[in-house]
Amino acid sequence: MKLQDKKQELIQLGSNVQQDWLTQQLDWCCQTIEANMQRYGLDFPSACATNGNYRIKPNDDWTNGFWTGMLWLAYEWTGRETFLVRAMENIHSFQERLENHFVLDHHDIGFLYSLSAGAGYTVTDSLLCQQQILQAADVLMARFQKKGQFIQAWGKLGDPKEYRLIIDSLINLPLLFRATEISGDMRYQEVAQKHYQTLLKTVIRENATTFHTYYFDPLTGKPSHGATHQGNSDDSIWARGQSWAILGIPLNESYSQNKQENGAQKDTSLTNAGFPQNYNEIVDVFLTNLPQDLVPYWDFDFNDQVPSDKDSSALAITACGLLEADKSNAYPAAKELAQGMIYQLGEKYSAKHETVNEGLLLHGVYAHAEGKGIDEPNLWGDYFYFEALMRLANPEWKKYW
Ligand code: GLY
Repeated sequence: MKLQDKKQELIQLGSNVQQDWLTQQLDWCCQTIEANMQRYGLDFPSACATNGNYRIKPNDDWTNGFWTGMLWLAYEWTGRETFLVRAMENIHSFQERLENHFVLDHHDIGFLYSLSAGAGYTVTDSLLCQQQILQAADVLMARFQKKGQFIQAWGKLGDPKEYRLIIDSLINLPLLFRATEISGDMRYQEVAQKHYQTLLKTVIRENATTFHTYYFDPLTGKPSHGATHQGNSDDSIWARGQSWAILGIPLNESYSQNKQENGAQKDTSLTNAGFPQNYNEIVDVFLTNLPQDLVPYWDFDFNDQVPSDKDSSALAITACGLLEADKSNAYPAAKELAQGMIYQLGEKYSAKHETVNEGLLLHGVYAHAEGKGIDEPNLWGDYFYFEALMRLANPEWKKYW
């Protein structure tokens, strides 16, 4: 199927997304979250499920924020206090984690604290959440490497084997922009912008496909080479990596554009929407690689002729990205395409008709080479499906990022 035909089919599917359908899906998400809440208590679900169920764990991974984020979404959708109370209990757990610096030696501080404290601050104006954003932002700032001008993703700071950034980091940066908004301290925003610019110049290939990670020389800071971590090979296109770009760019631009409104010079290398010139191509790469049922394989080395496992989470992330991009008219028919993606996920990939399943979205992949979470729900798939429904049902919804 050609790109134009895929778009047409998505737009056609998207025309089924009416308020009733969204309400049914959102109500079901909240019922699932409430049932899961009883089982998890003050603990958290694991990053991915096994046979449809999450393991119960402490707050010790990069993914815990997705659970708390879903509690905030459920509170916003239902207005029911039970979700608010549990979300605030989670905030205390995140505070403890900060105070003990517990499993925070990595860059995913944004994933963790945007969806816990960031969401809490958006929804309630809580002072505790506000302070937590600043404290968490300081932890993230400590990973900035002047040599190379990027935030080191993983490992011991300066370790040559880990001197790299990864595409997922785009979603960690909004925490820094928010820290500047709250404190007026420009250092946070400056680091976010430096990392963002470095990332755009390195991890995105000339043909608008993406590496998963990109290395730098620790002595000179010079960009060195791209390599994968969760994709099929260094040169392949990891589907979720492409989605992190489709979501991450509009999230970061939402802050840069605020800045432009305040009188900054317009950069002519950008599109009319103020996005990097290759944004549309990045989206096109994703759409072009969608198979017949429009839900991507986990890596674009695979297709209907050479099939492998699907990663439904990549489509949910992309839908949120297109809905964010739509606010700046950055991609033609972005909202209609996102509606088609969410309808297809809701009708064909959701766990709505399963009897024993704690996830919202079936058929995700966590890390294929490691055999992790293959053909299972995962927390970010669930979260972004829920977030996309919320964005569609309530265009005034204020993002947590
Ligand atoms: N951010 C890690 C992943 O997408 O699996």
